[in-house]
Amino acid sequence: MSTATMDPIPYPASWTRRHLLELESLSVEELTTLLDTAAAFKKATNGCRDKLTVLRGKTTSNLFFENSTRTRTSFGLAAKRLGADVVEFTASSSSLSKGETFIDTAKNLEAMNIDVMVMRHRTPGAPHLLSHHVDCAIVNAGDGTHEHPTQGLLDIMTIRERYADLKGLTVALVGDIAHSRTARSNIWGLLKLGAHVIVCGPATLVSRKWEEFGVEVEYSLDRILPRCDVLNLLRIQFERQYTRPFPSVREYALLYAMNRDRMQQAKDSILIMAPGPINRGVEITPDVADGPHSVILNQVTNGLAVRMAALWLVAGAPRCEH
Ligand code: CP
Repeated sequence: MSTATMDPIPYPASWTRRHLLELESLSVEELTTLLDTAAAFKKATNGCRDKLTVLRGKTTSNLFFENSTRTRTSFGLAAKRLGADVVEFTASSSSLSKGETFIDTAKNLEAMNIDVMVMRHRTPGAPHLLSHHVDCAIVNAGDGTHEHPTQGLLDIMTIRERYADLKGLTVALVGDIAHSRTARSNIWGLLKLGAHVIVCGPATLVSRKWEEFGVEVEYSLDRILPRCDVLNLLRIQFERQYTRPFPSVREYALLYAMNRDRMQQAKDSILIMAPGPINRGVEITPDVADGPHSVILNQVTNGLAVRMAALWLVAGAPRCEH
């Protein structure tokens, strides 16, 4: 790894937000700014390998109250790639176990001069609540079933690398839509950028309510497959379910797993995506997950670029300068 020299990326006038909490309320211009900035950082860091210094002097903190592999690691790495210091916070080994609230915990971290808090919490709205109690910038790294904005952005960035314009593309989100924050962030982002969005899965996990927002609702993967440009295969989130939404995992896989036979029905150009973690043999078979249409690991790399962009935009605004 080397420290790259680059022309500074001009701070975009279109970005005036203090926090990144969701995609639902972003304008098309704000979404495009995030995606363009991520692409610029990916290029400037030689594919997210090299280091820059644009966040030197800033400190970010990862406050994760839920488990994570990809999001936590990439937020930490993204901050370091931009020259920031990173403080890791793990709920299970913190003073939360002694009765401290997460807001008090965050205020104590902020008192150590944190500039950006990246927060994952199982309660929808927790990052929004925190944003009313601290002065530093908040980035939502996933709040319950509500949103996972940087996941939505990295998914869209991966599609944009293949198709510069999303208008007219058909993107299907398949699986546990009901419990998926990734689905929500994808839906809002994709709709704003002009894609045709289909949500597909068992009726117990896919609400017809989505039709009110212009989303197509389907219960048969085989029926929609031939016209999809992109499939984003979501994990069944058993940990968020109170009752089992289908008779067996085997039956789910028979109806919804993307496998070799179904690939024969798909377009030659289809992009196979998954936010991860993937359950091999449930929503996707290993040959498809590791096959030539899969961009699952490209998504992970793009996660670094998107998180560099998010951290820089919320931390780098002129009003945040010390
Ligand atoms: N996609 C995603 O959020 O993965 P992690 O839970 O590992 O962060």
